[in-house]
Amino acid sequence: MGKADFLQLVYEQTDEFMAQIEAPTLFIVQQFYPKEAILQFRQKVFEAGLETEPSWHPLFDDCPDYHRLHDNYPKAWVKSKMHATYYHGWYEHNRATFDFFREIFEVKNFLAGMDKSAHIHQIPSDGAIARVNIHHYPQGGGYQTEHIDPMTQFAKIQTIVQASQYGQDFSEGGVYAKASAESEPFMIDPHTEPGDLMVMSPGIHHGVAPIDPDAAYDWKQNAGRWMVMPIILYSDYPHAKNVKPKQV
Ligand SMILES: [Fe+2]
Repeated sequence: MGKADFLQLVYEQTDEFMAQIEAPTLFIVQQFYPKEAILQFRQKVFEAGLETEPSWHPLFDDCPDYHRLHDNYPKAWVKSKMHATYYHGWYEHNRATFDFFREIFEVKNFLAGMDKSAHIHQIPSDGAIARVNIHHYPQGGGYQTEHIDPMTQFAKIQTIVQASQYGQDFSEGGVYAKASAESEPFMIDPHTEPGDLMVMSPGIHHGVAPIDPDAAYDWKQNAGRWMVMPIILYSDYPHAKNVKPKQV
């Protein structure tokens, strides 16, 4: 569907929309963002990744923006091989990025029953914050194990912005979802273009099948599968509602 129809469904027929999400229905919102704008954003993230060393930081008030290589880390909540970048909404230097993705944060706040502008510029000690996650699954087997995500009040839906062109950036593997645990995986990428928004329940089985597994693995190549996920999440300060994803 188109962006205007999607936003109308969310804001004016909210119960109907959530019933469809839980059915489960996968929505592909075509050109939620202009293709060129998303590809430019991806290019900037890619270049920034080459200029700084990968690192990891817990989500406390001193957490910087950072990027990290996930390589089958044994203690990971969900095993994966990917390069992930994290931008935080409380930093002034990210203002343009968070304005750009604002409509997605607003939808999440609305579905949580909160003011549409909540959380976007909060700091970790406030409890929950806004973050833009960028996942890069390189060719040569970038993947994410099948899992389900916790359905917190801020994550009643998952919203994934497509940032790769299937058939060009990669031709095998990619993001999939299953209608039920026993269902065949539905491969989503062939049905999308960069800038499209995928919307589905966090609670359905999903993952990323290995990207072009026969190619050489190199995260310093701007190919493979890229996706952008604006999310609201609890910080790492102790919080009763801080729940983690679960491998299945
Ligand atoms: Fe997930």
